[in-house]
Amino acid sequence: MNIFEEINLKGFAEEEIDPTLDLFDEINRLKKEKNAVILAHYYQDGDIQDIADYIGDSLGLSQQAAKTDADIIVFAGVHFMAETAKILSPNKKVLLPDVKAGCSLADSCPPHLFKKFKEKYPDHLVITYVNCTAELKAMSDIVCTSSNAIQIVESLPQDQKIIFGPDKNLGAYVAKKTGRDLVLWNGACMVHEIFSREKITKLKERYPHAKLLAHPECEEVILKMADYIGSTTGILNYATKSPEKEFIVATEAGILHEMQKKNPDKIFIPAPPNNSCACNDCPHMKRNTLEKLYLCLKNELPEVTVAEDIIVKAVKPIERMLEISARLGL
Ligand code: 13P
Ligand code: SF4
Repeated sequence: MNIFEEINLKGFAEEEIDPTLDLFDEINRLKKEKNAVILAHYYQDGDIQDIADYIGDSLGLSQQAAKTDADIIVFAGVHFMAETAKILSPNKKVLLPDVKAGCSLADSCPPHLFKKFKEKYPDHLVITYVNCTAELKAMSDIVCTSSNAIQIVESLPQDQKIIFGPDKNLGAYVAKKTGRDLVLWNGACMVHEIFSREKITKLKERYPHAKLLAHPECEEVILKMADYIGSTTGILNYATKSPEKEFIVATEAGILHEMQKKNPDKIFIPAPPNNSCACNDCPHMKRNTLEKLYLCLKNELPEVTVAEDIIVKAVKPIERMLEISARLGL
């Protein structure tokens, strides 16, 4: 099997790695040699976050992808994030350690169905959450992330009719905060939909001083209980600035790595999911490993590409989001 067939089948290039190699040293060496930058989302494994040049939430990562002068962007995240980087930097090579690192939320909104949905509301403007395919972005007027969704909606005239997709939980939260009547696509994230209200209530009894920090992709029942709602960067900053010492964190567990690093004296408890599994890892984010990151930088594969006609259309709503965010200092 050649390397391309292997990537088609598995999503990544597999190759025996010399066990005596220090992968941190090797990745740093390759990065310099190839003028590459590693951008990692907070949901990645701790060792990937530690070796990254930049870690952040979806907005921060798009801002970095737009301004980097590296020749290669290694995106330690999921496919829609690497696509966004490619759309913003089409002349750069964008690599994803495991090209099968997808997203249940992006999958919940197939472009051909969204096209039909959009046709039912011809006088509506389309705002799409960045967690969607490049094709969906190409059908949108403005893209948003969880850290700017409210401000993006508020930047539009009060009487502007709006379709919001694909995340119904974030959409409902934004509708509530802005008082706007948004038409929502019925999509959701498998990780954020799984938190259990009953188990969180019990945890709060055990840790009566703990603050509940929740991502707006969570269901309304969880958001109603939260002391703070925000993006991963928002959650991290809130916990860092807070005088409180204990926090229950209702988002993907990878964020706890940086939270703990920045706040060694504080206690962070992952919010329990509604099943017998004790973890709330995103199976897509966690497809990437340090080994796959090393091989992808070494072989410059798998590469994420986006069709030229899609780039031309999708770049406009993403740039609109970046312009509004820059204007508002986000
Ligand atoms: P943010 O990066 O905006 O916090 O969103 C989290 C997420 O679900 C990324 O997949
Ligand atoms: Fe997608 Fe949810 Fe995983 Fe984020 S956490 S990449 S929204 S499945």
